[in-house]
Amino acid sequence: MNFRSQPKVELHTHIEGMAPPDFIRDLAREKRVNLSAIFDPDGGYVFRDFAHFLSVYDQACTVLTGPEEFYRLTRAVLAESAFHGVIYTETFLSPDFCGGGDVVAWRDYLAAIAQAASDAERDDGIVLRGIATAVRHHGRDACRKAARCAAETAGPFLTGFGLAGAELDGRPADFTYSFDMAREAGLQLTAHAGEWGDPGRIRETLDALGVARLGHGIRAIEDPALVALLAERGITLEVCPGSNVVLRAVDSWDDHPIAKLREAGVPITVSTDDPPFFHTTMTAEYENLSRTFGWGHDDFLAMNKAGIAAAFCDSDTKDAILKRLEPAT
Ligand code: ADE
Ligand code: ZN
Repeated sequence: MNFRSQPKVELHTHIEGMAPPDFIRDLAREKRVNLSAIFDPDGGYVFRDFAHFLSVYDQACTVLTGPEEFYRLTRAVLAESAFHGVIYTETFLSPDFCGGGDVVAWRDYLAAIAQAASDAERDDGIVLRGIATAVRHHGRDACRKAARCAAETAGPFLTGFGLAGAELDGRPADFTYSFDMAREAGLQLTAHAGEWGDPGRIRETLDALGVARLGHGIRAIEDPALVALLAERGITLEVCPGSNVVLRAVDSWDDHPIAKLREAGVPITVSTDDPPFFHTTMTAEYENLSRTFGWGHDDFLAMNKAGIAAAFCDSDTKDAILKRLEPAT
């Protein structure tokens, strides 16, 4: 089956995590920063486990500075996504990496990224919305600053607020203030939970942060009552199977709970998270899911429809994307 050309919705990517290793290596060379430790001999990113992945990620981000670099990065990653059939996507943008949590600087970065999105929509036919994200392991103070940046810039492009980073640092309720601020500004909410955290943490995330979606959420499978709750409330999971396999959140593709969660009625979407880090693409995700679970175009169409239903964009955009997912027969 040819999955590359199937139109796709992708809700869970991190803009810096989409940076190809060459993009980061070139910036490091230009700026005379020695980042050799984060690359393997073949030039790819190298990390041992999740904690090391986060450290490599933060190191790569040290050379990404300035709105112009984020403009170039956004154009490059959207062209690559469009090549793999993605027509609507959302990406996490971190005020920590875009101006160090300073609102004035963040506005300039965001303007450059929004401009890149608008240019890519014109040239590549891909629609992007931004989700400002706090990074747990950067500390609660940084998270509040990120929330303030997000609240100040909520609008047609920046439509969401999220929480990434080391899931087991602190408790979900530590971030209630930030999520309340974002909600009051009209932003829609998601948080990474259940990638590493147990079902109790997923429940706490729902209760304390009031999110409509969960990043990953896969450990919900350990608690049938929680799975039923997610299905009943229509909490959409942004599942990133290739990321889970490489980071060893699951043992193998065969062991991934995505099919069981889907069978239980939980709204499921498929994303790549940080594709070059995990040697994946949306085409590869579909191919691996098809090989593992026997899914075909109709299964992915259903997941793409679930994605657009849960997307953080206005209804006109949703209608336009839905038409492109399912061309008139
Ligand atoms: N930031 C980038 N990728 C992430 C992941 N898989 N989990 C948590 N934070 C992240
Ligand atoms: Zn993620």
